[in-house]
Amino acid sequence: MVICPDHQAIARAVAEEIVDYIQGQKEKGERAVLGLATGSTPIGVYGELIAQHKMGISFSHVVTFNLDEYFPMSPQSRQSYHRYMEEHLFDHLDIPKEQIFIPRGDIAPEDVGEHCRWYEDQIKKAGGIGIQILGIGRTGHIGFNEPGSLPDTRTRSIRLDEMTRKDAGADFFGEENVPLEAVTMGVGTILGARRIILIATGEHKAHIIRRSVEGDIKPQVVASYLQQHSNAVIYVDPSASGELLSAICNHF
Ligand code: F6R
Repeated sequence: MVICPDHQAIARAVAEEIVDYIQGQKEKGERAVLGLATGSTPIGVYGELIAQHKMGISFSHVVTFNLDEYFPMSPQSRQSYHRYMEEHLFDHLDIPKEQIFIPRGDIAPEDVGEHCRWYEDQIKKAGGIGIQILGIGRTGHIGFNEPGSLPDTRTRSIRLDEMTRKDAGADFFGEENVPLEAVTMGVGTILGARRIILIATGEHKAHIIRRSVEGDIKPQVVASYLQQHSNAVIYVDPSASGELLSAICNHF
């Protein structure tokens, strides 16, 4: 757990780690594989990566896998995670399109299972995820793995929790317009990443951060599974760390 003074300080530290990884892979002549999140949490990190690219860092050997997409959802829709990623990151970097993977929300329900197996295969073929970026929902979800998700789950469709739909309501002009389902990488898929970086900022995340970090490891709090990962770090600002009881933190 690392406490940074604010969102921007977290963004700089995380982007620096990502750039070091990307540069290291380049020197080895290997691809860098990133697992990416959407939502408000990673926007600062993406801004920093874009700034690094403008200063000359190439992302042409980077392969990306996004965590999730609403279902059903057209990629052109303003609420789609496809569109979010273009606007906040991909339109500003030099990652070839064929190296970008995002779960699809625009396929027939009967094809979702096959698509999910294909997605898992692509992650395997890329050599697994090197760094996975995560936000956390107030339900404790990582990706859209809502309470009850087991640690061995793979990419699949999932029913969104009521609290998640409520939190997304503003983006959809009303909770009733938020899709009922999503396609998400599984908990097992996420835990397979060699490095995991979870970011949480703001007071509204303080309660779930405490339950995830100091509570029992259980499917009701999916982020608690990260306690079992040997190379996971959580970056928080002072507000999100506000309910922690223990002093297990490094101040940045
Ligand atoms: C997004 C995702 C979600 C979000 C989480 C936090 O791709 O997988 O788990 O990271 O819901 O959302 P924000 O950052 O908007 O608070």
